[in-house]
Amino acid sequence: MLPQEIIRAKRDGGVLDPAAITELIEGLVSGRVSEGQAAAFAMAVFFRGLEHSETVALTCAMRDSGTVLDWSDLSRPVVDKHSTGGVGDNISLMLAPIVAACGAAVPMISGRGLGHTGGTLDKMESIPGYRVAPDNALFRRTVATVGCAIIGQTEALAPADKRLYAIRDVTATVESIPLITASILSKKLAAGLNGLVLDVKTGSGAFMAERDGARQLAHSLVAVANGAGLRTTALLTDMDQPLADHAGNAVEVDHAVRFLTGARRDPRVEAVTLALAGEMLVLAGLAKDLEAGTARARDALDSGAAAETFARMVAALGGPVDFLERLDDHLPRAPLQRVVAAPADGYVHAMDTRGLGLAVVALGGGRTRPQDPVDHAVGLAEIVPMGRRITRGEPLAIIHARDAASAEAAAQRVVSALRILEAAPEAAAHPVLERIGA
Ligand code: URA
Repeated sequence: MLPQEIIRAKRDGGVLDPAAITELIEGLVSGRVSEGQAAAFAMAVFFRGLEHSETVALTCAMRDSGTVLDWSDLSRPVVDKHSTGGVGDNISLMLAPIVAACGAAVPMISGRGLGHTGGTLDKMESIPGYRVAPDNALFRRTVATVGCAIIGQTEALAPADKRLYAIRDVTATVESIPLITASILSKKLAAGLNGLVLDVKTGSGAFMAERDGARQLAHSLVAVANGAGLRTTALLTDMDQPLADHAGNAVEVDHAVRFLTGARRDPRVEAVTLALAGEMLVLAGLAKDLEAGTARARDALDSGAAAETFARMVAALGGPVDFLERLDDHLPRAPLQRVVAAPADGYVHAMDTRGLGLAVVALGGGRTRPQDPVDHAVGLAEIVPMGRRITRGEPLAIIHARDAASAEAAAQRVVSALRILEAAPEAAAHPVLERIGA
């Protein structure tokens, strides 16, 4: 079928058969389908949507556009997590070693931060020497011997997604649930997993701020992943405030290590991490139900096994062998730390979490264009939680900055991102809002 006929059929609201979708995606990679045709197809999908069978076909075609990893030589079940992204979301750093310490393999292929959200790879690159792009042999050896490896996307995985995403990005066609679904899942399916848990964020710092939209995306992801043969569940989690009380790169690594070693455990981070770990252990067949999975994950954390796994992963991928013992010596620290003082007495009622993420970007800790460098040392620490009673002058956050001018600008952003009112707010909701099973 000619590409223009496939586009025409979708433009007119038709249902495409899987062969036509595969042809279009193969053409996108080979060059037979032009950028203009891919853009027109994306726009037709944006307006007309895709049926479940079409989204499964698109996802599988994009998965098959490159290498599909094969882990059949491992004796461990292979599972992973994908988060739709947020502010202070450093869960991957703790989740991968927890689940690996329980006996699963976690080849965690992660992304960089873009816009107001942070990226796991940027966080891992705060660790001196850590290689986010190891060769295939080192990647596989680390997964086989340690149980987990957090690395970056390779060119070989789902190249059709890379091309289509770049086109969507400049043609106002990113915000389409079937296209987002196929984009996220094609990369996860190419990673050769046996199970996947999705952390779909909702709230002021999320990509899908509205709960209904996030729920719709979660249902689409779960249905399509399972339709494509990957056992998948999703949790809808709260992003109306940063998840960790730290946002940036080195500051989030510091927070994650202190969580793993037990030096400091933030209850919201603990609730989400253990809930996701429980899901992954059930999907891996390593726990009979969620309660048993969560209990097993907690044991791996409390025994120190997860911290040890993290340390081994860091060392295997080129980081310091004594990273956990000498955290303060290894992590980059910004030259300036400045306390943001509360402007009034009251309770923290609401946060513009996106605004806090943008404060990190403005400090240099995130990027506005994919090619921009990132300053790993800057960020926000000890952000006051929602619902906390504060008195005027008490700290709202500590800014880690390169210089006084950027610290001052960030302080203003933090003050305007927090709504402080006199009346006591309602008790904060549990950070895990909903579970979407297969
Ligand atoms: N993340 C992706 O990987 N793809 C999308 O389309 C949106 C978010």
